[in-house]
Amino acid sequence: MTYRLEVGSWEDLFYEAQHIREEVFIKEQKVPAHLEFDAVDAVSLHVVVFDEHDDAVGTGRLMPNMHIGRVAVLPSHRGLGIGVRIVEQLLDAAEKRDDGSVVLHAQTHAQAFYEKFGFVAEGSDFLEVGIPHIVMRRVFTEKA
Ligand code: COA
Repeated sequence: MTYRLEVGSWEDLFYEAQHIREEVFIKEQKVPAHLEFDAVDAVSLHVVVFDEHDDAVGTGRLMPNMHIGRVAVLPSHRGLGIGVRIVEQLLDAAEKRDDGSVVLHAQTHAQAFYEKFGFVAEGSDFLEVGIPHIVMRRVFTEKA
């Protein structure tokens, strides 16, 4: 299957990103709707992955404070490498900003997923919107 990936602003991608986050975070994970969307969306860089029918199937965002978040793939499209493509794209954008490291609050079940990209857990887990999370950081190697 071929997937197309778009990178853009909230204005560019909100329709698709909103749909995926509603399906995954609000309906599947029961995150309260009023907490799912925030003012940070408008100032973040967003990624949306489209399938061969041009349906949006995955998303994620890079916030101005160098945090990656809201990484989500529709249940029907998991295990196909889409999550990896989203995180790689966000990491690439973060590295270009050259701020040294990028942070995320990983749901603890997804810790092993983020470790694949070199993220390392920091501290103990905590509850965020009722879901166990852990802080993870990926340090970029210094350029010669
Ligand atoms: N825990 C551990 N490993 C995981 C994982 C998880 N939750 N989800 C995927 N992986 C592994 C896969 O087994 C695969 O490993 P392999 O290459 O060794 O076979 C690798 O990560 C790549 O997986 P991929 O197919 O790219 O992931 P995905 O497209 O299924 O997306 C999530 C992964 C976590 C984004 C997706 O499961 C999801 O949307 N979950 C619900 C929302 C969520 O929890 N988001 C994370 C918020 S921190």
